[in-house]
Amino acid sequence: MKTLSLVVLISGSGSNLQAIIDAIESKQLNAQISAVISNRPDAYGLTRARQHDIPAISLDHKHYQNRELFDQQLQLEIESFKPDIIVLAGYMRILTTAFINAFSPTILNIHPSLLPKYQGLNTHQRALDNNDSEHGVSIHVVTPELDSGPVIVQGKFSIEKEDNSESLQQKAHKLEHQMYPLVLNWLSKQRLKLNSDMPLFDEKPVLTPLLFEATVDAG
Ligand code: GRF
Repeated sequence: MKTLSLVVLISGSGSNLQAIIDAIESKQLNAQISAVISNRPDAYGLTRARQHDIPAISLDHKHYQNRELFDQQLQLEIESFKPDIIVLAGYMRILTTAFINAFSPTILNIHPSLLPKYQGLNTHQRALDNNDSEHGVSIHVVTPELDSGPVIVQGKFSIEKEDNSESLQQKAHKLEHQMYPLVLNWLSKQRLKLNSDMPLFDEKPVLTPLLFEATVDAG
């Protein structure tokens, strides 16, 4: 079985990156992280990568005149690793259409809401403000329109009276850390095949997002 080659893009803490590293090291996931790239030099995720001998590249977007030039350099960096999949794991920058088209459909993103609800930022607060009774996490194929590509899988949890934005973020993270390694595992086993219209799972089109069943209490 082929080892799935990944480049992971981050901007911050990298707890999802850590979950993927842990799944690889415990042999639950047949993958290799060829590089971790951050647009923020101080992202803790770069330290996590170095601790596991993974090439950690800081590409500071502030050193580039515009988004196009930055994404062109990002594309060159990624191409040098020839990854099968580009994993957005808390990468907090909008990608240009040219960049996305260069790699489509092999870019995945994890988003802390039940898409199509709450594209963009502040998803937890928006779910609270709307008095939603449930909330969750989505993993989707990245297409040029922000947070709008086909959703592969969603994990859900209920919103309780005592929840606040921070507690929802913790619940979301618990799910995310199980969901990303699982989806990558499906890809490595070719159970999941990506395309920009409709991914295939076990050769069947994913017409509605698969529902992730948490193996531990996500609350
Ligand atoms: C996650 O909540 C993810 O859904 C969002 O950014 C956050 C990244 O967290 N896209 P971390 O850096 O992986 O800890």
